[in-house]
Amino acid sequence: MRSFAGRDILSLKGFERAEFEHVFQVADELEPIARERRNVDLLSEKTLVTAFYQPSTRTRLAHEAAMHRLGGHVTGFADAKMTRAGDFYQESIKDTVHMLEYYGDAIVMRHFQQGAPQEAAKWASIPVINAGDGWGEHPTQVLTDLYTVLTEKGTIDGLTFVAIGDMRMRTMHSLAYALTQFDARMISIAPESMSLTDEFKEEVAEQNLFIETADHIADVIDQADVIYMEPVVQADYTKGRDERSADKVGVTPDNYKVTRELLAQKAKSDAIILHSLPRMDELPPDVDATKYSRYWQEAYNGVVMRMALLSLVLGAME
Ligand code: CP
Repeated sequence: MRSFAGRDILSLKGFERAEFEHVFQVADELEPIARERRNVDLLSEKTLVTAFYQPSTRTRLAHEAAMHRLGGHVTGFADAKMTRAGDFYQESIKDTVHMLEYYGDAIVMRHFQQGAPQEAAKWASIPVINAGDGWGEHPTQVLTDLYTVLTEKGTIDGLTFVAIGDMRMRTMHSLAYALTQFDARMISIAPESMSLTDEFKEEVAEQNLFIETADHIADVIDQADVIYMEPVVQADYTKGRDERSADKVGVTPDNYKVTRELLAQKAKSDAIILHSLPRMDELPPDVDATKYSRYWQEAYNGVVMRMALLSLVLGAME
């Protein structure tokens, strides 16, 4: 297994099973720190630089919280408009990263351009973590999600993942790449215009993940061990910022909605729902109080997973 020290976390493509297992094991080791709400000094000599060119609640703050839990420091920006990259100068990623690498020991970057973190990693002498790049990937989210599945169900192998919503979404790409390393089944449900491309399906099929499709969640929910959700009423992830118009409220078709009634009628009794959030009306709030919801656990695990990843790439954990 390749060492994690000094490594970029850009994609789950090519991430090997042993590497998933190692990250999950480190997360298990560090989890008590988060559960007991302690701050330790594991990363007290390290600084994380956050470079967020798109809005975020969870990903940025979970990385920051992870650094604080491990005694580290944080600097950076949450809005590129307040930097030279987002004003008159439109400073390039190369020039920006040449600055950021002097300000800290790792960079976590979210960007509206697919491949931007990879471009940053080309020029940075410190690890770069992809916090979501356009429609590309969201590796730290999916590591969090699979860690949640493992802790909730005790295994990833043998499970059927029903992925519902906008399949162009970066989480869906990272999920499919990740599932190539496990003995798992994936069924996708999305509007035609939001489907996975044939090229992508062929790419993961070469690694033995044969993604099936369905038209309506009601047709396949009884097969799901994990219901993995994204909205179909989505922001445009190729933009730095996308405001919502009033006509985009409450319009998710039933095909892509998971309701309390549907769960009660058709879901396996031990199925779990993951949603990386934020949500629209595809997941009504009254599902929160059912036995199926695990998205708050997923949110908690988001801090634990970033603790594991940061301590690994910064060389504090082997
Ligand atoms: N799950 C996720 O990426 O959420 P944020 O956009 O709030 O970071």
